[in-house]
Amino acid sequence: MKIKLSDLKVLFSEEQIQNRIKELASEMNKFYSGEEVYVICVLKGAVMFATDLVKYLDMPLKMEFIRLSSYGSSTTTSGKVNAVDIKLPDLNEKNVLIVEDIVDTGLTAKFLLDFIACNFKTKSTKFASLLDKKIFRQTDIEPDYMGFHIDDKFVIGYGLDYDGYFRNLKYIAYADKSLLE
Ligand code: IMP
Repeated sequence: MKIKLSDLKVLFSEEQIQNRIKELASEMNKFYSGEEVYVICVLKGAVMFATDLVKYLDMPLKMEFIRLSSYGSSTTTSGKVNAVDIKLPDLNEKNVLIVEDIVDTGLTAKFLLDFIACNFKTKSTKFASLLDKKIFRQTDIEPDYMGFHIDDKFVIGYGLDYDGYFRNLKYIAYADKSLLE
């Protein structure tokens, strides 16, 4: 492991993240106004965001977990989205809220939105992402709910990993590019 905790610079603190999640949840509570929602958490990166977010949602909801991957152990996307595990219940006529950690190229978001649209006639489909990194965007995807914009940084923590590590941090941080391969 090349990167150490002491190499990391905090980008969003635990308090900033939690406050923003509460704001997003309150927007969602208004939008859904008590209607049932299927929250689809995209593993592994969105696990912290999704599990914190649902604590502030006040409508009846069910959580589903799917697993996609586009990164290997590097810090740039492979450009190909792999559906590692995408088993979902019948979402016809349901409100669907997809919860992602970050939209980067947008290929994962597009893959998922297309997958839902091709397989179900939902009542509504919304996309929430904690982070939005627009600089490498290859699609016209715009999250319906977005926590923070970030620029050209590879970020880690709060579910986001570098080679599988650092998902457990309570904050989101970055390291100098020279340390990342
Ligand atoms: P996209 O398909 O390029 O939009 O990338 C989506 C996925 O790439 C995310 O769900 C993350 O798992 C991963 N990813 C993109 N940028 C970062 C980053 O800065 N840090 C950690 N993972 C990232």
